[in-house]
Amino acid sequence: MYNDNPTLEGLQHKIDPQKQGEVFFQESVKPGDKYFYIESYGCQMNFSDSEIVASILAAEGFQATRNLEMADLILINTCSIREKAEETVRKRLRIFDKLKTNKPGILVGVLGCMAERLKKKFLEDEKLVDLVVGPDAYRDLPQLVATAEDGEKGINVFLSREETYADIAPLRLDSNGVAAFISIMRGCDNMCSFCVVPFTRGRERSREVYSIVAEATDLFEKGYREVTLLGQNVDSFKWENPETKEVVNFARLLELVAKVHPDLRVRFSTSHPKDITDEVLHTIAAYENICNYIHLPVQSGNSRVLDLMNRTYDREWYTERVEAIYRIIPDCAISSDIITGFCTETDAEHRETLSMIEQADFSMSYMFYYSERPGTLAAKKYADDIPLETKKSRLQEIIRLQNQVSFRHNKRDIGKTFKVLIEGDSKRSDQQFKGRNSQNKMIVFPKTPGLKPGDYTHVRVIDATSATLIAEGITA
Ligand code: 5AD
Ligand code: SF4
Repeated sequence: MYNDNPTLEGLQHKIDPQKQGEVFFQESVKPGDKYFYIESYGCQMNFSDSEIVASILAAEGFQATRNLEMADLILINTCSIREKAEETVRKRLRIFDKLKTNKPGILVGVLGCMAERLKKKFLEDEKLVDLVVGPDAYRDLPQLVATAEDGEKGINVFLSREETYADIAPLRLDSNGVAAFISIMRGCDNMCSFCVVPFTRGRERSREVYSIVAEATDLFEKGYREVTLLGQNVDSFKWENPETKEVVNFARLLELVAKVHPDLRVRFSTSHPKDITDEVLHTIAAYENICNYIHLPVQSGNSRVLDLMNRTYDREWYTERVEAIYRIIPDCAISSDIITGFCTETDAEHRETLSMIEQADFSMSYMFYYSERPGTLAAKKYADDIPLETKKSRLQEIIRLQNQVSFRHNKRDIGKTFKVLIEGDSKRSDQQFKGRNSQNKMIVFPKTPGLKPGDYTHVRVIDATSATLIAEGITA
């Protein structure tokens, strides 16, 4: 879900206000029209937020453009999770700043997770931007743009305890028309010691259930066939109906979304090992359209390191949750996030992370070396004492092992038949489709007449790499 190397193409389209939710490319400038360009970094939540921003700007008469040079307003939706993500944003801002020499009057804005921490630096010290808008302040964008147009700096980094943008219909940007993301909650109340998210995105709050179900229904009616419910910790979703006082937890929400239509696939991310319940697992098992795939970040395989990370579970607890998943949903795939080289991690502790990859049989993992973030618990309490060389070599070992485990996982699928939701042409050939199975594995297979993106089809796997399954169609 997290993208450390995002393409520098933004999410850049024209929006026709007549067709809520649909997006059109803009080809050329019409005099008098105003255009915005938006580029997003970081997690899916950030990409999802950009779709809310697009909706708010479209209502103000702004059209989206993919062409930086056409833009009157350039926005960059930023991530703070690792130092590298911040460096990338800085480079982009310098490029945007140069555009101002050719086209005075254009406005540049920083949105998202870097807003709070770096507002002073961007606005005053480096004078790179005109607007700084935090993740809970997007409703204020039109007003902040007007302030900036008057030559003042537009800034709002207020973090809310209530804002969920529940009533805003996101404008789907960069969409394949088949799969979409739905934000179900914002913020995070866990205090993992390495993580900046609670500081950049504020307190956890769950979105009103009916608006989530309505968004899923609307997407299905527009032809979408897959939704991914997004939150930093979906298992702590909790919404109380103010009238009936009925409490809807994550298991119940999953069920409600699954019931929108049997042909609407439901995915979710991210699960927390301390909170994922058997009730959720039984709900996944009970509905064919809830995908058999759980992203369950372990972070480390060693209990002492997990304690320092303040993850509030240990190796035994994680192992038990993995066993419960495989018992209740036998063909479930589990993926993970892993941080290597956390403060004081020894070689023996690092090897426990390696053994966890084998033991839990992760189908894939997002793997990082520890990057100290200012303001976090770890930055305050522990020395970042593992040399960069050691962090990098441990990361290499982890990547190498995960690739082997993924390859083994995929080879076990050879000969099996899967239901696939077609997403579009494969990257390599327009003679082939790509799509995912329930376990979130990418499968490529030859096109057959009559099939199109958004259709389900059955395929048989005939070969595998560590990243992809290769299949043939099945004739009934
Ligand atoms: N350094 C390295 N990786 C981090 N992550 C979060 N914070 C840090 C950090 N300071 C990773 C975690 C998390 C994922 C989104 O990013 O693995 O699950
Ligand atoms: Fe997403 Fe966290 Fe990065 Fe913010 S800091 S964009 S929440 S990954």
